[in-house]
Amino acid sequence: MKVLAISGSLRARSSNGALLEAAVLLAPEGMSVTLYDGVGRLPHFNPDLEAGVLPDEVAGFRAAVNAADALLISSPEYARGIPGSFKNALDWLVGDTEFAGKPVAVWTASARAKAGPAALLLVLTTMSGAVVDEASVTVDLMSGGWTAERIAADDAKAACLRAALENLAAALA
Ligand SMILES: Cc1cc2nc3c(=O)[nH]c(=O)nc-3n(C[C@H](O)[C@H](O)[C@H](O)COP(=O)(O)O)c2cc1C
Repeated sequence: MKVLAISGSLRARSSNGALLEAAVLLAPEGMSVTLYDGVGRLPHFNPDLEAGVLPDEVAGFRAAVNAADALLISSPEYARGIPGSFKNALDWLVGDTEFAGKPVAVWTASARAKAGPAALLLVLTTMSGAVVDEASVTVDLMSGGWTAERIAADDAKAACLRAALENLAAALA
């Protein structure tokens, strides 16, 4: 099964990005996790652009989402909400008929973030995404310096992510 991982952070040393890179390392047999790195290249959402020939980056994004059996999202909280660039990416999927019903696992790299994850869940369910609760986890990385390799080598964190990925696989089976 194919999982497309999308980070809500554009930061090079993003903790959310590290979580998703760890998912690549920890994916169970039969699951491939691919990182989508184009969120920062998507044009600002505009319904007028959607009415014509889709910009290449948007067409590529939608194709990647549609080809995936499930999405894995990890996003920071900005000003108690969703980072603007990431909300922009989600807005490009609202008019994509194939997004409805797509299984989505939602991860969080900050234990103190509450409003942001809640806002993200509201948006995803409004878009008719099928959020998989058993595959949605918080792994706190706010102590800093976490790389995918360090996460994968940490027994507790790796076990939590592995279980989440196995639950996602079970939900897709
Ligand atoms: C502009 C900005 C706004 C933020 N607002 C909040 C906030 O409202 N609540 C919160 O808990 N953290 C907030 N943070 C902290 C980030 O959510 C936190 O550092 C996050 O884990 C960073 O994710 P990243 O490492 O993937 O970039 C904010 C950070 C930035 C840069």
